[in-house]
Amino acid sequence: MIPVKYANRIEGIEKSELRQLFDKAPPDAINLGLGEIQFPTPRIISESAINIIKEEDIRYTPNAGLPELQKAITKYYNIPLNKNVCVTTGAEEAIFASIFSFINPGDEVLIANPTYLAYKTIIKMMGGIAVEFDLAPESNFKLDRKDFTNKITSKTKVLLLNNPSNPTGKCFSEDEINFMVSKCIENKILIVVDEIYRELYIEKKPITFLDKAGKIIVISGLSKSHSMSGWRVGWAVSNDPELIKPVIISHQYICTSAPYISQEVGITALSTEGMIDQNKIRLELISNRDFVLKQFRQFLPNINILENTSSPYLFINIKTDDMLLADELIKQGLILMPGKIFGSNGKYWIRLNYAIDKNLLARGIKIFTNIVKLY
Ligand SMILES: Cc1ncc(COP(=O)(O)O)c(C=O)c1O
Repeated sequence: MIPVKYANRIEGIEKSELRQLFDKAPPDAINLGLGEIQFPTPRIISESAINIIKEEDIRYTPNAGLPELQKAITKYYNIPLNKNVCVTTGAEEAIFASIFSFINPGDEVLIANPTYLAYKTIIKMMGGIAVEFDLAPESNFKLDRKDFTNKITSKTKVLLLNNPSNPTGKCFSEDEINFMVSKCIENKILIVVDEIYRELYIEKKPITFLDKAGKIIVISGLSKSHSMSGWRVGWAVSNDPELIKPVIISHQYICTSAPYISQEVGITALSTEGMIDQNKIRLELISNRDFVLKQFRQFLPNINILENTSSPYLFINIKTDDMLLADELIKQGLILMPGKIFGSNGKYWIRLNYAIDKNLLARGIKIFTNIVKLY
């Protein structure tokens, strides 16, 4: 065999720990682990897709996306459209294209500990350095302001956040947000905020960072809000078109444009009717959450669960080795995510995704409570 040498930027980048864990699961395992909303796509979306396919005119779109979808996105944020949107193939591509556009090798990117595990890898692929700041478990994952300040150096170029958070399900408080924004303005740091879970709020819709001053790119998409992960619609948006310009250029050479059919249905998803169906998903998730919390109150009354403000994750303090517990659960046919894979502060915690059919959820919770009782 001829030896193959990979590029340095991919060398050492493995399949994510999350995927490795899945590979060990039996085929009929109940999946409360993956970060997906496992509900069907709303009918209004699939039906509009069928009509679009009948048009037989499925083509490239402008690189930045269908103008009508760009308009719908800026309308959603209540800002004017001004070359300030890039429609991408899912939020993941928007994150990739943003980091690609602003990070040189050796630049530092601030990320929370714990946070969405793809951030660290994407930063590493660009030759950047991910610098973690603490969300302290002992204070319910509040921002450690001193640590945040201490982690800023002359090399810090970007703060990459998610709000609401995967894995904790919590939002930063308005005070914490103002603190981070002012530090970033003071130190000329670009803020990239992934707001993909914003529409899955429990009581109050989280603010968008677009309402704040400073150099800010907001990333979001339809995967979670509309249970449309397979359609691959995401975006990067800003008040400042200069921040989106390089993202559109990067996106052009990554994939030309997001899929035409998905963009067309994206317009339906963001319409008044589409948002009515979206709200049904949000309410169904709240009903699943109530069910899980009730089961826990009954069968694991002493377990410490972080109060989430957005679905679909509950972050649970299991006070034991989270990797070992996740392994044991997998053997029993239940997939959950050990907190440590999201950062060292997630150690002794486990992430449960309740966005699944209620019957499966009930079976999964039964396995979980039976095993956790033994620890
Ligand atoms: C925080 C966060 N951002 C982005 C994504 C990916 O979203 P998309 O399907 O739009 O690429 C996920 C998926 O789990 C996520 O949890």
